[in-house]
Order: sequence, then structure tokens, then C-alpha cells
Amino acid sequence: MTSKSNAKPAKKPHVFIFDTTLRDGEQSPGASMTHNEKLEMASLMEEMGVDIIEAGFPAASDGDFAAVSAIAAQSKSAIICGLARSTPADIDRCGEAVRKSARPRIHTFISTSEVHMKHKLKMGPNAVLEAIGRSVTQARNLVDDVEWSAEDATRTEFDFLCKCIDIAIASGARTINVPDTVGYSHPHEYGELIRRLIENVPNSDKVIWSAHCHNDLGLAVANSLSAVANGARQVECAINGLGERAGNAALEEVVMAMKVRGDTLPYETSIDTTYLARASAMVSRITGFPVQYNKAIVGKNAFAHESGIHQDGMLKNAETYEIMKPEDVGVAKTSLVMGKLSGRNAFRDKLESMGYFIEGEALNDAFKRFKDLADRKKHVFDDDINALVDEQLAAEGERIAFKRLRVVAGTDGPQTAEIDLVVDGEEKFAIARGNGPVDAVFNAIRQIVPHQAVLELYQVHAVTGGTDAQATVSVRLNGDGIMATGRSSDPDTLVASAKAYLHALNKFEVRKSKRKAA
Ligand code: KIV
Ligand code: ZN
Repeated sequence: MTSKSNAKPAKKPHVFIFDTTLRDGEQSPGASMTHNEKLEMASLMEEMGVDIIEAGFPAASDGDFAAVSAIAAQSKSAIICGLARSTPADIDRCGEAVRKSARPRIHTFISTSEVHMKHKLKMGPNAVLEAIGRSVTQARNLVDDVEWSAEDATRTEFDFLCKCIDIAIASGARTINVPDTVGYSHPHEYGELIRRLIENVPNSDKVIWSAHCHNDLGLAVANSLSAVANGARQVECAINGLGERAGNAALEEVVMAMKVRGDTLPYETSIDTTYLARASAMVSRITGFPVQYNKAIVGKNAFAHESGIHQDGMLKNAETYEIMKPEDVGVAKTSLVMGKLSGRNAFRDKLESMGYFIEGEALNDAFKRFKDLADRKKHVFDDDINALVDEQLAAEGERIAFKRLRVVAGTDGPQTAEIDLVVDGEEKFAIARGNGPVDAVFNAIRQIVPHQAVLELYQVHAVTGGTDAQATVSVRLNGDGIMATGRSSDPDTLVASAKAYLHALNKFEVRKSKRKAA
């Protein structure tokens, strides 16, 4: 017989999650976000339990400054951090931007590797040591919470790195970040570097050690976890692994690796993991960067089981093929693939499991659209169904409705689009040429509904795989200070393009009329 102990399980050490989606993430080419999108992201991060939000780089632009200030002002519990180079102007600007947060942090950095000091900074080691002392002291005069980073730490000569960190701590830094700026380290090396720094730097127990890993060799998450195992208690990461070049460590992977494998990584974070899928979808929607299908934790195939053996095992006991529950990361239910033989009841069950409760005509319409899609596509995934229903819901009640499209494309041209729309209940037709079929479609729409807004973004993603995949098109219109984004999905990319443009245009017109009324 085993006797039960009454002793409480020991509390696991806390690992602080520092999210840099809005700073390092936004530095990834093409991923820029609008002011409001940044605020929306920051409030979701806070709700999700992110400890520190790196909201931007205030000296980089007035837009960055405004976003960091607004995030600081709206924040409730998270530490709001801004990045600053080691110049006095950067640090002042950063201090001003985070000022309204209840918990402001300045994160200042300078390169410490020989190659960076010589070629990028054109500074000698003594000048760098002097800059560290001066910048950290200046930051500490503005806020209590200062983080210091040694850019390119993993390629820095060890004794010099210790000296730099010693000065940063002596000048008042509370967090020491050790970036693998170029994603060069292997996990055993990075973990050992953290351990040796903690062993060798004076007063190392007075600060939080932080990992910041880039994914150039696909090792960012492994390196971050190795750092934690060796004493780091802050991990800098980004949702969907967004970041410079190949990105940063993916927040969702770091967090779930500790949660699922608490036996080997006995640490806790404050992240409510049921937010992970939502946060991932939000970052993807805002940046327009699709999430890789087989991406760990949040990829659309992460919980999909297609082979008969796997499906059979899953139906008997989910633990046969799943190491975590989809619900744990906010995915409604394991995504068993549907096909053209699936019936109306199975389709309705599927919709309900995804949070869509539709009845009557709307259900009949959705089922008909699902059957049409299943005729054209071998497998219909959850995301196809999401796209299909969202499409239907988005089109309800719009002033300008899509009716029919015919396009001439290909080498012989001229590329021409004929379109039928219903505007305020009245059917309208236009024919237009363009510089390619998409341009022709948009020109035809402009003929029927003339407007000033310009097309600022046009992006196409496949909802799932294969040449029969549905295309999701995103369109952003901008004019008169009004920005509107539209999205639509259809197996025909040109139809999806027309509908996405109309979706954006409907929103644009609504916003314009609201502004006139105000
Ligand atoms: O990768 C890096 O070195 C950075 C620092 C500015 C922290 O992003
Ligand atoms: Zn970085």
C-alpha cells in the first residue's frame, strides 16, 4: 500500500514571458501593424497573461512612439517595455513613451561582439563599456525597471561579455538579456553560456537572466528551453515565432513545452494557454502572414488526424495520438476531416463544435456551400468550414453584394472582367480591362461604385493544401484617413479577390458615412 503525503507540491519556479511580437516581430519584413492593431494585440496579450510586453522601439518613428505610449496608457497589469539603443536621445524617448504604464520598463542594448563593435558600431571595447554604464544609469534615473541586452552575445568573447554584464548590473540593470542575435547557437552551447555567466558574473543572483533566441537554424525554442534549464527565468518570444529573418522563439511552443513536459521542465508561466490559438490567429490576420500548416501547437494540422488508423485510435482514446488536448490551446475540438459523403447532421455537429449555431435557411445555405466545396475538394478541413461560414456571415446585410463574375485572363488578353453587383438592392453591371485579371476585377468594381480609397494591400493565401484549396484573399483600402480591411475565401482566387475587395469597400463606406454623421 502506498501512503498519501499531505505535503503541498513544491511551487515551481516562475518563468517570465516577455513578448516581443510588437517590436522584434514587427521588424520582420512586411509584418507592419497599424496603431489600432497594436493596441488590440497588446490587450489580448495582457488578457492571456504575458508578463512583459515589448510594445515597440519609440525612437524608431513617431508611429512607434505613439503606439508604445498608447499601450502603456491602456495597460493594467503587464510590464510595458520599450526598446532603446544606448544613446541619450533614444533612452529619453523610450522613458517618455512608457511613462504612463503602471509598470514601465526601459530595455536598452548595445553590441558586444568583436564583429559588431568593429563593423557596425565602429567603437572599441572601452567605449562600449563606457556606453553601457552611461546608458543603464540614465535609464535607471527614468524608471526602476531596466533591462540590458548584449546584442550578439553568443558571438562575444566570454570574459568581455562578463565585464559588460558586470557594469550593467552595477549601474542598475535588473534583467540581463543574452541574445542569440543571429541564431547561431546550439542548445547545449546556449544553456552552458547562461550557466557560466551566472557562475562567473558578480551579483548574478540579483538579476533575472533572460533568453532571446533567433531561429536562423530552427533552434530558437530549443535554445530558450535550454537557457531555462540552466537558470534563465525570462524568455523573450513572439507569437507564431514572428521576428527578424527566420523569427524569434515561438511563444506558444515555449509555453506548451514547459506545460506538457513539466516532468523534465518543472517551471510555470502565467500564460492562460487556452488563448494561444486565438492569439496566433490574430497575429496572422493582422500581419497577413499565414501560419504554416504543420506548425507546432497552432498550425491547422496540429490536431488533425487523417489516416484511418489514427482516426480509429483517436476515436477510441485521444491519448493514442495526442500529447495535449486541443482545448488546452484554445482549439475547439480535434479536427477530423470531412468529405463529400458527410451528411447534414454531421455537418451541423461540426458547426456546433466550432461555435456556429445556425439553423433554418442559413444552415441549408451553409450545407449547400459545404457540399459544393466538397465536390471540388477532396477533404474539407475545419479552416475551410470556418472560411465558408465567415464568408456567409460577413456578406449578410452588406450594401454592396457580389452576384456574378466572368474574367478573361491568360496570355492572349486583353484581361477583362465582367461583374454583376447588387447595390442597395439594385442590380448593376460593369465591364473593365486591367493590368492583369485582378486589376480588371477591381476596375470593374470601381466603375460601379466610384470611391477615393486606394488599394494598400492585396494578399492571397491558400486555406488548406492542394491545387483545389480555397484561396483566402485579404485587401486593405485606405483613403481620407480611413482604413478598411476585407477578407474572403473561395476556390476561385478571382472570385475571392472580388469579394474581399467588396468586403473592404462595404466597411470603408460604413466608416465614411459614420464620420459624416459625426
Ligand atoms: O536580437 C537581438 O539582439 C535583439 C536585441 C535588440 C535584444 O533583438
Ligand atoms: Zn532579436
